[in-house]
Amino acid sequence: MLSGKMQDALNDQVAAEIYSAHLYLSMSAWFDSVDMPGAANWMRIQYQEEIIHGLKIFDYVMERDARAVIKAIESPPAEWSSALDAFSAAYNHEQKVTAMIGKLVDLARAEKDHATEFFLHWFVNEQVEEEASAKAIVQKLKLVEESKNGLFMIDRELGTRVFTPPVQAG
Ligand code: FEO
Repeated sequence: MLSGKMQDALNDQVAAEIYSAHLYLSMSAWFDSVDMPGAANWMRIQYQEEIIHGLKIFDYVMERDARAVIKAIESPPAEWSSALDAFSAAYNHEQKVTAMIGKLVDLARAEKDHATEFFLHWFVNEQVEEEASAKAIVQKLKLVEESKNGLFMIDRELGTRVFTPPVQAG
């Protein structure tokens, strides 16, 4: 059984992960609208990953005989000024998610909820990857600036990303 506090915090994180999914799906639509299909593909896969993150926590809450609930999820932005603007926003967003996961770990420790703390380790590691992959794309986009050739090459590379379901937690 989870404490009420832990249950609420995990349910909040489910909503945050679904918001992340919607943010990246919105970015995917924006990239499609500016004729960058590779980046649209990359963002759509990111959407799928975020849904899996949300479901992983949702399932864990139920596994602990607690109540999983779906909270209100606000609409994500729909417009960005450039590819760099969108990926910088994605990188900033991932840094915020990392801080949220850190707070969940702190709460699990404070509550001496070892199972939840252990469960969250998967997310701690996942965030290292999430931040690194977004940052690497931001850096490439900074290098090419507004060069059409450069953007074309990056878009082509982003188009090669394929969806691989993350490894199971714990
Ligand atoms: Fe679910 Fe991108 O963190």
